[in-house]
Amino acid sequence: MRSFIAGTGSYAPEKVLTNRDLEKMVETSDDWIVERTGIRERHVASPDEATSDLAVKAAVRACEAASLDPKDVEAIVVGTITPDYPFPSAAAVLQGRLGNKKAFAFDVSAACAGSLYALSVADRYVASGAVKNALVVGADTLTRITDWTDRNTCILFGDGAGAMVLKPTDDPSRGILTTRLHSDGALVPILFQPGGGSREPISEKVLRDKSHFVKMNGREVFRVAVRALEESCREVLAAEKLTPGDVTYVIAHQANKRILDATLQRLELPASKCWMNLEKYGNTSAASVPMTLDEANRAGWFKPGDVILMMAIGGGMAWGASVVRW
Ligand code: COA
Repeated sequence: MRSFIAGTGSYAPEKVLTNRDLEKMVETSDDWIVERTGIRERHVASPDEATSDLAVKAAVRACEAASLDPKDVEAIVVGTITPDYPFPSAAAVLQGRLGNKKAFAFDVSAACAGSLYALSVADRYVASGAVKNALVVGADTLTRITDWTDRNTCILFGDGAGAMVLKPTDDPSRGILTTRLHSDGALVPILFQPGGGSREPISEKVLRDKSHFVKMNGREVFRVAVRALEESCREVLAAEKLTPGDVTYVIAHQANKRILDATLQRLELPASKCWMNLEKYGNTSAASVPMTLDEANRAGWFKPGDVILMMAIGGGMAWGASVVRW
C-alpha cells in the first residue's frame, strides 16, 4: 500500500511587504534583492495572527479538496519552527481549532525542510495502514524571528501555510514513491536561532544581543544547498529507476531563485518545469513546498501519471527530496 496526496490547500496572510517597503527600513534596494534572490514581495502575519491561524486556513482547504471532514483526520503532523507556543506543538493547537478528537498530533522541526520531513513521517503511518488518513501541514511565521535591522536576512522571509491530505491507495501506479531525508548537524551554526531556547533562555541580554533572531551565513547556506538538493534529487529518482528526463514537474522549497536555477541546471531540468512563487512570497520556510504544490495543483498543472519531484533544504542543515506519481 502507498499513500497519495488526496488534497492540497494553502494560505498567506493579507499584509504584503514589498522590496520598496524594505528600502525604507534597511540599506538595500529593490534591484539588489531581485537580482540576488528573485524576491519582490512577501506576506506578513498581522500582530494577532500566529502560525496556527495560518495553518487552520490551509488545513481546511486541503481537507475540502480531499473531501475529508477535519474531524475525521487520524494523524496531524506539522512542520514548523515557529509554533504558537514553545510547547505544546502547533499541531495540538491546530487539532483543537479543527475540533478534531480522533488524531494524534505533533510537530516536526526541520526548518525549511519541515514539510518534507512531515510528509515523510505521515507517509509511513498511512502507507503502513496505521491510520486511514493524515493531515500534513507546513506553517511558519519567520517574520516573528527576523531581525528587521539585518539586511542579510530580513529581505528573505515571509509567512504562510500549506497543507496536504494523505490517503492510502492500492494502485501501484500512483502515490508517494520514494522520499529520502538527510541532516548534517555540524552545520547548525550557518543557519539558526541562537537565543530563546534552553542554551540561552530569553533574558535582557538575549534581547540586547538580538540572539533570538535568525542568524545566517548566506554564502555557506547557498553553497551547501545547491550540492545537497542536486544529490538528494538524483538519489530519489535513482531509487525509482527514473532520470531527470522523466520528471514532469518540480516543486521546490522557494529559498532563492539562484539556488533553484543552479540546482535545476545541474539536473538538466528546464526552469519551465518548476513552479516558482518566491517573487510573491519570499522564503516561507516549512510552508513553502506545500504552498507551491497547492498553487500548481489549483492551476491545473498535474495530470494522473505525472512524475513530481519535490525538494527542500533548511537549517540543521536538514534536506531531502521526494518523488511522487500524481
Ligand atoms: N541589500 C544590499 N546589499 C546587501 C544586502 C542587502 N539586502 N545584503 C547583503 N548585502 C551586501 C553585503 O554586505 C556585501 O557587501 P560587501 O561586499 O561590501 O561586504 C554584498 O552585498 C555581497 O554580499 P553576499 O553575502 O556575498 O551576497 P550574496 O550574493 O551571497 O547574496 C544572499 C546574499 C543572502 C542573498 C545569498 O547568500 C543567499 O541567498 N544565500 C542563501 C540564503 C537562504 O536561502 N537561506 C535560507 C535557506 S532555507
